[in-house]
Amino acid sequence: MPSHSLGRTEFGNPENKGKTISPDEANQLLNDWVKNDRLRLHMHQVAHLMKSWAKEKEQLNGADQWRWELAGLLHDADWDQWPDQHCKLIIEELEKRNVDPEVIHAIASHGPSYFGVEPVSKMDKMLYAFDELSGFLHAYSLMRPNDYEGMEVKGVLKRMKDKSFAANVSREDIRDAASRSGLSMEELIQFAIAHQSRFTG
Ligand SMILES: [Fe+2]
Repeated sequence: MPSHSLGRTEFGNPENKGKTISPDEANQLLNDWVKNDRLRLHMHQVAHLMKSWAKEKEQLNGADQWRWELAGLLHDADWDQWPDQHCKLIIEELEKRNVDPEVIHAIASHGPSYFGVEPVSKMDKMLYAFDELSGFLHAYSLMRPNDYEGMEVKGVLKRMKDKSFAANVSREDIRDAASRSGLSMEELIQFAIAHQSRFTG
């Protein structure tokens, strides 16, 4: 894995706390930057998990739910066209657009072993936790006869042990992220199955 170390741990301007871009602007950016359908779907799936978590578990208001959703929606925005500069470019873009530093920090810390930025806030930790897990569930759903229908935690855990399955998904990152989130792997998987299965994007 190439190092994508960002070389800094401060992101955005504290004066922009609470500021976001609109859903239309975020979707425009996503569609301009990401041409790969599979990646776009992944970003929407992670966004949906983030929003659902913010609403149900953190009981945040609509504006805060959107901040969580936005972090999920744009976390891989530069991966498609500029993988060598992931996630430096999207961070700089969101700084230019005066987005809340917490949202930018969450994006900057969604892969601590690559970007060199530790997840600190709950938003940071949940984005890291959902990212690879969401991709793994999607891969698993594709090989099942009825995709998410009847998917169980134990089936997911069994697949995780099979190293040849979805080999590009880092089991170590999934485990590390789960432990940093303070939630059990079972709880995370259960939540992700329940919400990702209902997402039709
Ligand atoms: Fe991702």
